[in-house]
Amino acid sequence: MSTDAFNAREFRDALSSFATGVTVVTCLDSNGEPVGATASSFNSVSMDPPLILWSITKTAYSADAFINAKHFIVNVLSAEQVDISNKFARSGIDKFADVVVEPGIGGVPILPGSITCFECEAWATYDGGDHEIIVGQVKGLRSAVGSGLVFYRGAYATAEAIPTLASVESNDVSHFIDNYLLYFMSRATHQMGEEFHQLVVDDGLTTKEWRVLACLYNENSMSLADLSKRTMVDQATLLELSMDLQKQNMARVQHLDAGTKITGTGVGQERVEHLIKECQTAESNALEGLDSGAAETLKAMLKRIIKNTD
Ligand SMILES: Cc1cc2nc3c(=O)[nH]c(=O)nc-3n(C[C@H](O)[C@H](O)[C@H](O)COP(=O)(O)O)c2cc1C
Repeated sequence: MSTDAFNAREFRDALSSFATGVTVVTCLDSNGEPVGATASSFNSVSMDPPLILWSITKTAYSADAFINAKHFIVNVLSAEQVDISNKFARSGIDKFADVVVEPGIGGVPILPGSITCFECEAWATYDGGDHEIIVGQVKGLRSAVGSGLVFYRGAYATAEAIPTLASVESNDVSHFIDNYLLYFMSRATHQMGEEFHQLVVDDGLTTKEWRVLACLYNENSMSLADLSKRTMVDQATLLELSMDLQKQNMARVQHLDAGTKITGTGVGQERVEHLIKECQTAESNALEGLDSGAAETLKAMLKRIIKNTD
């Protein structure tokens, strides 16, 4: 197909200069079997009512299922889902074979890892030349943290924000700080710790006592030297503090040939039980948006830094 003005290749190339996101649209066929196809033709239509559209090539294997479906879901893919995009762009394979899905509107599968899901009721279909335009009314939204996958000039890409003038200027001023590890660590520690330390104080403990009791939690035992490193309290102060805790039955101090050993007690454990729970909640809030693998990696990296700088 060609016209005087341009040929098919030129038209295709021109369209590919418009960067889009990538979605996998899913529905159930007339037998209730899951169907899915990669689509970049997704777009917004109306705010009130909330409508979206996408188009499917009429010759697609899944075209009939989508044209007749009562419900469909537009799964917006993340930059980590190139494999999923490629898989759902292939015809004649069992696309759902090793994908664990959860049911969304009308039992239509939701793809795990998508950053947004538009759960739609079929609104209308329109003839669009060799494509069928499918319009859906959005009945439900699901979203997760993540960066969207982009399709541009026939290739996958990731979206990165262009720095605004204001952010460029502030980067110039504080360039060193914006790349300095110690700054990130200090600020993260400060922000995470501020609220929590107030809780400790309100609870009648000093920060040092809290650190010692947290280290001795589970009736842990350690040398004065080791506990000093872990609590960041010098040995003389720590010994005094431990003797005080011993008087309150919250720690046991033993002077052995090998050195001084401090051990936690059940009473000490009970004293900080609720604070430990607060810590765990604060930690999961602070790690919001990071998957458990990333959180473990972060901890492993910090442990390495602690070892390297010991
Ligand atoms: C990034 C990307 C975007 C695509 N967008 C569309 C689209 O919007 N509409 C369409 O009909 N096909 C699109 N395709 C092609 C379909 O995914 C492909 O034809 C698929 O085989 C359809 O599934 P089916 O064969 O099971 O029907 C796209 C493919 C890729 C890789």
